[in-house]
Amino acid sequence: MRHLETLLLELYPLSDSTLRDLVGRFERVVEEGRAARSPALKTWDAARGGNTQWVADPSHVVYVAYADLLAQGLPGEGSPLGLLPERLGYLHELGVTDLHLLPIMKTSGDAGFAVDDYTTVDPRFGTNEEFASLVAAAHERGMALTLDLVLNHTSDSHEWARRARAGEATYRAFYVEDESGTGDHWPQVPDVFPDFAPGHWDWVPELGVYLWSTFYSRQPRADGPVLNDFAQWDLDYRNPEVLLAMCETMVRVANMGVDCMRLDAAPFLWKEKGTRCTSLPQLHTLMRIFRHVLDQVAPSTALLAEANDVLERLVPYFGTAGFAGHECQLAYAFPFMPFLWHAVAFGEPGPLGRVLRAAPPTPPGCAWLVFDEVHDEVSLEIVEDVFPGEEGEDMCRRIFRHYTQEGRGVPFRFDPQHEEYGHGFSGTRWTLLGGEVADRAGDEAARARILEEIVLMEAVKLTLPGVPLVYSGQELAQGSDWSFREDPGRAPDTRFLKRVALDEEAVGQRGDMAVAAGHVYQATRRLLEARAEEPAFAGDGAIEVLAATPEGMLVLRRPDPSGDVVAAFHFGAEPRPVGVDPGHGRYRDLLGGRAVAGDLQGEVLEPRSFRWWKAAGDA
Ligand code: GLC
Repeated sequence: MRHLETLLLELYPLSDSTLRDLVGRFERVVEEGRAARSPALKTWDAARGGNTQWVADPSHVVYVAYADLLAQGLPGEGSPLGLLPERLGYLHELGVTDLHLLPIMKTSGDAGFAVDDYTTVDPRFGTNEEFASLVAAAHERGMALTLDLVLNHTSDSHEWARRARAGEATYRAFYVEDESGTGDHWPQVPDVFPDFAPGHWDWVPELGVYLWSTFYSRQPRADGPVLNDFAQWDLDYRNPEVLLAMCETMVRVANMGVDCMRLDAAPFLWKEKGTRCTSLPQLHTLMRIFRHVLDQVAPSTALLAEANDVLERLVPYFGTAGFAGHECQLAYAFPFMPFLWHAVAFGEPGPLGRVLRAAPPTPPGCAWLVFDEVHDEVSLEIVEDVFPGEEGEDMCRRIFRHYTQEGRGVPFRFDPQHEEYGHGFSGTRWTLLGGEVADRAGDEAARARILEEIVLMEAVKLTLPGVPLVYSGQELAQGSDWSFREDPGRAPDTRFLKRVALDEEAVGQRGDMAVAAGHVYQATRRLLEARAEEPAFAGDGAIEVLAATPEGMLVLRRPDPSGDVVAAFHFGAEPRPVGVDPGHGRYRDLLGGRAVAGDLQGEVLEPRSFRWWKAAGDA
């Protein structure tokens, strides 16, 4: 446990005896965790070689859904978790290898992210036993299960919060209190929900104090109105008891059979006055400790960082220097995502190419989680960090205006006082690309164009280095759920627009290429199938940007000893030749098209189309 001692001392100025005592308590968490891990899970760990390398396999694909929305249309009676094993066949057919269920534990709000209890399934979703059966059914198919670990905050109804509110000193010390007593905003700290939970404090009348709340708060000002009927209070990791309690929680969640834990809101874990309080160095020590504990109890359980940040602050989540690969094994590719939407909107892949060129390779066994949408808004937050000054401002404004045109997306976190264009926008991919407008107008040409754009986005997503993510419903070209506006509990948070139930009718149409659902489903399935077989698509593989032109051509290379894959994507509206020479050779079209011998330069791509070529040797 020397390693642990060193890490703990990096964070906490502990005396020898306190350190010894603390390490002893960590050791007990590990011992008890090992004893409690089921033989089935131990066999599962062993089958995976006792490590997390499985996340970087080219066949790895994550599907993200809310348990209730994914189960809603399934026949039969029962809870969502009880029904979900029935859905695994559908996911398997699509090519999914990992089901990420958004929060399912007892909750007071924020679609499950205000957690009341980390290890008891909310009765709305089912029971712990039903979850265990789902895990077993998934593992039987070789499929993994990902769950969130909302470790930055608890709801204000969690037992720790209730005991804090009741005045128990131990638990008051679990949360971050405003020592000034004023509730004044720390100037550099970002305001995450400026419209429905402004600031980063929550007034707690029972205690007469402000507690830190990055996300939802009840009452941001002592003299202000109560805005929400729950709050998310940030945990104070400057207190080692909080870290120990979270490690214990993590071990219990891992022993429920969870294969990957999504570390929600990871950048916010450590606060230090005078800083932005995001992605501070100390939180990397926290990550190393989490990994260290898991390695001993659940060595094949991976960690996924949810950190919406620029490359230089995000890459360290994979671990730096001697710790490469020993923090998180996956991290959302936030820096790529807005630029893909930009490329599609304006036929201009230049900014995406620039970001890809700047991205260092991920350590072996570590991978980006590549997405175009998730259950949250399409966030533009980092655009101006990546492209400072007027260029970024202009890009942000253009992307925002394009996707919030009449009938498309809706702004999220719109702060009219400070920003003209908000931080991002909500809506499903079909809605954002104009699918609902085209459906209403019966505009077949627009529908055909949007389908091309969707397949192009999928193909880019599957080519970028990392593991692709499918957000539930996007594989069936589903529109948004506008009914959120009629529900006062959901209306202020436009992210609910895109939280849609899997459409059973569309599921039934998935074989029919003549309808949008079938078209997108079949394209996604076919691409995933081809990808799974191709070693150049390994999640931790490299990428080279061969071209990213103003005319709309993006040419990428995924090198591999078995033969490189050259991928060309054309975002523009006129047919164009590839235009760069990726090296002479014999190329095989991975999707069954014709073989090419010699040079790919002159190969012409139709608007909004792409090609994957596998190098098969000398011409
Ligand atoms: C993450 C989640 C988001 C949630 C927030 C607070 O960003 O993705 O849905 O509101 O954390 O938990």
